[in-house]
Amino acid sequence: MSTFANTLILWQTQHGRHGLPWQGTRDPYAIWIAEIMLQQTQVMTVIPYYQRFLEAFPDIECLAKASIDAVLALWSGLGYYSRGRNLHKAACQMAEYHQGRFPQHAAEIQQLPGIGRSTAAAIAAFAYGERCAILDGNVKRVLTRYFGIIGYPGEKKTEALLWQKAEALLPEENAAQHMATYTQALMDLGATVCTRHQPRCSRCPLQPDCVAFREHRVASLPTPKPRKPLPSKETTFLILIDQDKILLEKRPSPGIWGGLWCLPERQMDNSSQIYCMQFLGMDAALFAELPPLDHTFTHFKLRIYTQLLQIINRPRRKTDHEIWITIDDALQLAIPAPVRKILLKTVFRQQLLAH
Ligand code: ADE
Ligand code: SF4
Repeated sequence: MSTFANTLILWQTQHGRHGLPWQGTRDPYAIWIAEIMLQQTQVMTVIPYYQRFLEAFPDIECLAKASIDAVLALWSGLGYYSRGRNLHKAACQMAEYHQGRFPQHAAEIQQLPGIGRSTAAAIAAFAYGERCAILDGNVKRVLTRYFGIIGYPGEKKTEALLWQKAEALLPEENAAQHMATYTQALMDLGATVCTRHQPRCSRCPLQPDCVAFREHRVASLPTPKPRKPLPSKETTFLILIDQDKILLEKRPSPGIWGGLWCLPERQMDNSSQIYCMQFLGMDAALFAELPPLDHTFTHFKLRIYTQLLQIINRPRRKTDHEIWITIDDALQLAIPAPVRKILLKTVFRQQLLAH
């Protein structure tokens, strides 16, 4: 038998979880109910629901005959109610098309509503000792680490590779006898040792052969879901220079940078370069541009172009949300990070020009 399966089976008998209500049975119906409840719910929460459910509906026939309302009433509080609806639907199908008998193989179990490949395999392994691989979220985590597999496990290619690995690792000798223990071992190792955060590698039976452990890649596996690229926007900031002062505007609140002092902004028009323009009733001449600056918000990226303009005539008017200020003083105000960067660049540039 592969050392992997051997090691896990031995570990399960000593350190795995025992005595859970659904572990003392080989009844596929009872195991099915447990596995469905355990899909998105913690063991401790599931236990009382599982017991009440099996008391009310002890077999396929009882569940099939029950009203959907009665089923959902017992599901109430577990969440993900489509699980309860699918249980009822599957029981009706078995009653109608399978003489009320639970299918005997994973491949057929998987045809029932609400049962995926991994859950079908778990039921078949627990109930019949069928030699078939599970691959739930916990097992994906264990295997990506054990083999050092890079790639988001939700991706088809990575998932296919993981199924292949999961099948190759199954116990070979006396598989029927060991499948329940082996399957439970994988689940328990993922739930209690090879956890998402701070896995207990020092107590892990797989550690001697674990690639992620050996290569210090535990924290980076499994590869996280690739983030969708953020939408990008562009804008142009104006540095309007009048002698030693520049213009800042207070941003309206609420809004991006609400209440902070910002450079005047206008939407970019790349097609027509304006060298001389009217702005806020002033004449201004463009004399320089800074390289674009990219800033990332949570929901979009902003590419900021910056134009330096010399003010030709500045009107004497004052408003609460405008201020003419030296760059040194501006750096003391509440200004957004990219504005700070731009102002620092501007100072640097002016120092270069001055020499
Ligand atoms: N999660 C899914 N199936 C489980 C099982 N049989 N025991 C413990 N946790 C589980
Ligand atoms: Fe997971 Fe650590 Fe065990 Fe590797 S050694 S399988 S990373 S717990």
